[in-house]
Amino acid sequence: MIEFSRVTKYYDQEIVLKDITISIDKAEMVFLAGPSGAGKTTLLKLIYCAERPDEGKIVVAGWDVRTLKQRTIPFLRRNLGVVFQDFRLLKNKTVFDNIALALRIHDMHPAEIKEDVYEVLEDVKLAHKAQTYPPHLSGGEQQRVVIARAMVAKPTVLLADEPTGNLDSDTSFNIMNLFRDINTRGTTVMIATHNEGLFQGSGSRVIHLKENEIDMETVG
Ligand SMILES: Nc1ncnc2c1ncn2[C@@H]1O[C@H](COP(=O)(O)OP(=O)(O)OP(=O)(O)O)[C@@H](O)[C@H]1O
Ligand SMILES: [Mg+2]
Repeated sequence: MIEFSRVTKYYDQEIVLKDITISIDKAEMVFLAGPSGAGKTTLLKLIYCAERPDEGKIVVAGWDVRTLKQRTIPFLRRNLGVVFQDFRLLKNKTVFDNIALALRIHDMHPAEIKEDVYEVLEDVKLAHKAQTYPPHLSGGEQQRVVIARAMVAKPTVLLADEPTGNLDSDTSFNIMNLFRDINTRGTTVMIATHNEGLFQGSGSRVIHLKENEIDMETVG
């Protein structure tokens, strides 16, 4: 589902990812670990095509990212759900509309949109907050809305960057369970984190980045 072959990425002259080869199967759940500055976010951005590799090949859901034209990127992104820290909710739209917006590009009937939005809101246990505006939600609730928004279009791949940063341990636990459910239903899930507690005891594959390279792979 996600293939990196000898991928290298520079920012200016500085090397950020060096000779990365990774293969992630459909419906796998994988953690990307490593200290701050190791290149985790950059690696996710390469998958999402927000950054391009300087060397090597990346194939995501059958799309060769290296040769993808700018106007084709939205088609790739329809297969991807993203939970990135800089993808914020729209403050002046309700929870319902924030999630529904992710479906509008799909040209769906309003009744169908409503059904799908409520389905994911129930998954994240926030159906009762559908008409609330994001500034009136707690941090953990906002994060669950972001996850619901990423899930609503039923992506084949879900990417999450520090999805539990700033959340208490109970909320983090619930969010991790949510990712596990999504994964069990067949979505490939990749989570970047420097919080080892997230994957310890998970039984999932952990790819450790260190100083811009893959250091080792373990099982959490
Ligand atoms: N847009 C950019 N321009 C230049 N350098 C960048 C850019 N984005 C990131 N970097 C640099 O690339 C390196 C890797 O950054 P990245 O954000 O991928 O790390 P990370 O592993 O996600 O760290 P953290 O755990 O702190 O989020 C860092 O040294 C960072 O300063
Ligand atoms: Mg990061």
